[in-house]
Amino acid sequence: MKKKIGVLISGGGSNLQALIDACAQAEFPAEIVTVISNKESALGLNRASNAGIPAHIINHKDYKTREAFDEAVHELLLHHNVEMVCLAGFMRLLTPGCVSKWKDKMINIHPSLLPAFPGVHVHEQVLAAGVRFSGCTVHFVCSEVDSGPIIIQAAVPVAPADTVETLAARVLEQEHRIYPLALRWLAEGRLAIKDKTVIVKNSKSVSGALVNPIH
Ligand code: GRF
Repeated sequence: MKKKIGVLISGGGSNLQALIDACAQAEFPAEIVTVISNKESALGLNRASNAGIPAHIINHKDYKTREAFDEAVHELLLHHNVEMVCLAGFMRLLTPGCVSKWKDKMINIHPSLLPAFPGVHVHEQVLAAGVRFSGCTVHFVCSEVDSGPIIIQAAVPVAPADTVETLAARVLEQEHRIYPLALRWLAEGRLAIKDKTVIVKNSKSVSGALVNPIH
């Protein structure tokens, strides 16, 4: 049985598309059963509709408290019998109460090599810091922002002439590569968390520590 996945988005949804494409493979162990956006204008909603996936808008501005918004999201996920959740460019912080309900079942993608450069305006931070490498991270969600055990990372070089746009595009290409892989491992039940470290069980050719596109 394929695991039922809910994806939360706020924007363009290119990571959602990468997950949709992966789930389209017959042997992929997961299927996306719902997409929820907190923004009406999110282009990712069209990607969901095009793939025949029920897409919903839950506008955070319609809720008085974060808890009330989170509860609405949680209820909708349960309504679709979601078993695991992927945050894919979802720009709202979830409350600890909500996060705890999805403990070890909710993952996020972040466009830096965490724990470096958490938060927003990541590529600006990276360029301002003058680091030579950046990348992306898929991690379990815990109540602290952009923390949580790291499942997989990919690194990319930062070029001297990079702008936010060129760097974002280089990182995004790797995001689309590692997010489906992390979801596969999660859905196959191959991720064990020991303290803060994730162990990928029965990994054949790729391990959580080894996905590096630098040539
Ligand atoms: C990605 O870089 C993701 O890591 C970050 O926001 C961006 C969303 O892109 N959180 P998309 O909506 O998946 O295209």
